[in-house]
Formats: sequence, structure tokens, C-alpha cells
Amino acid sequence: MLTLGVESSCDETSVAVVRDGREILSNMISSQIEIHRLFGGVVPEIASRKHVSAILPMLDLALEEAGITMEDVDLICATRGPGLIGALLVGLTAARGLALASHKPFVGVNHIRGHICANYLTHKDLEPPFVGLIVSGGHSYLIHVTDYVDFTLYGKTRDDAAGEAFDKVARAMGIGYPGGPVIDKLAKEGEKTYDLPRVMLEADSYDFSFSGLKTAVLNELNQAKQKGEEIRVADMAASFQAAVIDVLVEKSFRLARELGEKTIVLAGGVSANSGLRAAMESRGEKEGVAIYYPDPILCTDNAAMIASVGYYSHLKGEAGSVYADPNLGL
Ligand code: KG4
Ligand code: ZN
Repeated sequence: MLTLGVESSCDETSVAVVRDGREILSNMISSQIEIHRLFGGVVPEIASRKHVSAILPMLDLALEEAGITMEDVDLICATRGPGLIGALLVGLTAARGLALASHKPFVGVNHIRGHICANYLTHKDLEPPFVGLIVSGGHSYLIHVTDYVDFTLYGKTRDDAAGEAFDKVARAMGIGYPGGPVIDKLAKEGEKTYDLPRVMLEADSYDFSFSGLKTAVLNELNQAKQKGEEIRVADMAASFQAAVIDVLVEKSFRLARELGEKTIVLAGGVSANSGLRAAMESRGEKEGVAIYYPDPILCTDNAAMIASVGYYSHLKGEAGSVYADPNLGL
């Protein structure tokens, strides 16, 4: 079955063709990152306008790259939430219009669930059940994936998402946007010399909280400024990243132990982090837990993962709502 996927929830306009939920025939991604970089974050109105101009050319490119025409497509899917409402509406409306005009089935897809499916595209052998850690710019979820379309939520962030914390800390240090890749790179050159908090919350909680950590970094920056001292940027990057990783690793392994699962799957933009991958793999080796994460290009937003989740929903007979929902939960 050939699925056409469309993603436009934030600042990537992407269209993909995926065979049977697992094999990417094309995954065209037009990133708006350069224009949003000028503002230090995504500007919703600009994002919507850029999606409008990119969506049809991306659609043509995705079909061309896959070597197919619209007639060959069996199923059409698009992200319906969560995300920026104006941005979501562009991809969703284009995909729905296409489905109506071509009399093909349509599935409205949850973007967060899509991030998990990025792993099915990278690892052909991976099957549920497993513990899933989704850490992106907008979300941090710890879940039990019991089937391709069934999840149980165990923990989520109570304030900032993990990626949001990377972005805000990088902005405060004036080292660029998005913060994750920059901090990841700098952390390799630094030492963990700053003492920053690991917020574990209540003993039995799987929730996360990253705003206290962010504030601790801001306090260090302010104190250094008041004393006229230079902040050691690479050391701060290493210390901050380690504090995030410690919490993510600890909670993921605790949940795996509680559920008796021997597989942990990482997803979302922050799963591209080299320190997180290394820490998860090292702990996994000690505890006999297999660690999976997507290819780098599939960690951040893309339409192939949307086609994959849409395919599995369709197999289960779930059409999903066709309406955009900016606050759609897991
Ligand atoms: O999944 P994604 O593309 O967008 C959302 O759905 O939110 O994730 C983007 C987030 C940004 O916050 C970015 O800073 C972070 O992922 N990110 C990283 C890395 N690469 C991207 N965070 C840490 N380390 C990285 N290497
Ligand atoms: Zn995302």
C-alpha cells in the first residue's frame, strides 16, 4: 500500500511517499529554519505563509522522487495536531482536498505518535511493545507502546519540553537557534563543572520538569554577569545537557523495569542528541535493554513518519478526525 503523508505542524513543509508503513520512497522536507532563526524562534504567521508557498511544489517533488503519480497512491494522511493552527491548516487542507478530488481514503494524524513511527522506518525489525520516550521541541512524553496505535501515558512534562529547554538555554547564552544541535556540539568540548539540579519530582512520578533547570542556568549566567566574569559556554552546555540526560535516562529505565520491557525507543528532535543516545546505550548494555532511535533526518519533523502512523491507523480501521486541533494530546 502506498501512503502519501503531509506534515506542516511547525516550521517544516514535508511530503512523503511510504510503502506499507515501513519503506520510504520519498521524504521531501523544506525547512524554514533560516528565516525563523532571525527571530530566535518560530513566528507562526511567517510559518503559515511559507507553508502555503511550499506545499504544492513539495507534493510534486515527493511524487516525482518516488517515481509515481497520484493514481498510484492508495491512502492520504496529514498531521491534524498538535501544532500551530495556521501551519496545520495548510497541509491538512491541501491533503484533504487531494483526497476528496481523487476519491482516496484520508486519515488525520497525531504528530506526536508520528515521532514514534519514525523508528519503524529506520528499524525494519522493531515491533511493539516497548517503552517510548518522545522528546521534542514541544513535547516530552514517557509512554508504554502496546501496539502500533495503542499507547498508555505514564509521564509528561509539567512545564517546558526537553527541546524547549535546550532552545531557551541556548538563547540565554546567545549561541544560536535551534539550541539542541548547538548545545550538543558544544557539550563535547566542555566539562560538567556547573552544579545543576536533576528534577525527579515525586518518587513515583514519571513526569518531567525542566523549567527549574533552565532557571538555574539563567541564575548562573546572571551571577557571572554581575561579578563581571565570563561564563564558560562549553562547560555550561555540557553541565546542562548532562542534567537533562540524567533525568530522561533514569525515568525511562525505571518505567522499563516496572513494565518488564526490554526495549526503549527514543523519538523526537532531542533523540538526535549524541549525549542522550550514548547514555541510553551505555545504561542499556548494563541492564540488558535494547535502545532504538531514528535516523537523524527522521528525528525532527518529517512527513514519512506521518505516512507511517497513518498507514497503521488505516489498517486498524481508524480514520481519525479530519479537523485541525492545535492542542491535540497523545
Ligand atoms: O521534533 P522536532 O523537530 O519538533 C517538534 O515536534 O517539536 O524537535 C525540535 C527540537 C528543538 O527544540 C531542537 O532544539 C531539538 O529538537 N533538537 C535537539 C537536537 N537536535 C534537535 N536537542 C538536543 N540535541 C540535538 N542534537
Ligand atoms: Zn515534532
